[in-house]
Amino acid sequence: MATSVPGVGASVVRLATVDSTQRVAFDLAADGAPDGTVVVADEQRGGRGRRGRVWHAAPGEGLLVSILLRPRLAPLAWPTLSLAAAVAVAEALDAAAGLAVRLKWPNDVMARGRKLAGILLESRPSPAPVVVVGIGLNVAQRDFPPELADRATSVAIETGRAADREALLGAVVASFGSWRRRAEREGFAPVRERWLALTDTVGRRVTADGITGEAVDLDGDGALLVRADGRLRRVVSGEVADAPRP
Ligand code: BTN
Repeated sequence: MATSVPGVGASVVRLATVDSTQRVAFDLAADGAPDGTVVVADEQRGGRGRRGRVWHAAPGEGLLVSILLRPRLAPLAWPTLSLAAAVAVAEALDAAAGLAVRLKWPNDVMARGRKLAGILLESRPSPAPVVVVGIGLNVAQRDFPPELADRATSVAIETGRAADREALLGAVVASFGSWRRRAEREGFAPVRERWLALTDTVGRRVTADGITGEAVDLDGDGALLVRADGRLRRVVSGEVADAPRP
């Protein structure tokens, strides 16, 4: 049964254990669920990450949410919604937990160089176009397994306080709703400007998609611009890693 996110009004389907909130959101879309429907779970047994990875979170410790969109943007612009989601998560963390974060291209949310949240955008173009924006935010974890400890962090670790998942959910959904509407009205420019203010990828020497150079800007479609061998190269997909200075 759908309820609503307090103060936001979006319809939200709350589940205890699922394979993936992404799968549930696509199923609901196929059954006619409206734009803006939110799916949230306490636990995922098959959480999906970017690039075919698995997203792990112990039961009750993460904010695991998928937002179903019936996009009003052209398909080529859909990937920019994942940058809008990263901006929204950053602003929600500031508003609801007093936590300042940085964004790593394309859409990782970082604190002290460790990953706090990840975003997965999946789409189905037909029969009716559907985009599902999945957000996994580490909230209550007090520690991580040794293999993740220097790469992952949580709101609880960063703030030293137990964070309120419900408050974070409301803040994320409200902020994403407002950035998404802005992108539909004004295009990518305002999202791009805010993303650039929040990123620490630009200015770094990086390796991405086989290209090594200095990340200098974000293109008008969300691609990362890297200056390599004296010319600007576009990185449209993949992971960014720090590269040593020559
Ligand atoms: C990443 O790899 O960085 C993206 C992770 C996205 C995980 C979230 S958790 C909620 C939603 N449901 C999923 O199965 N995946 C996304």
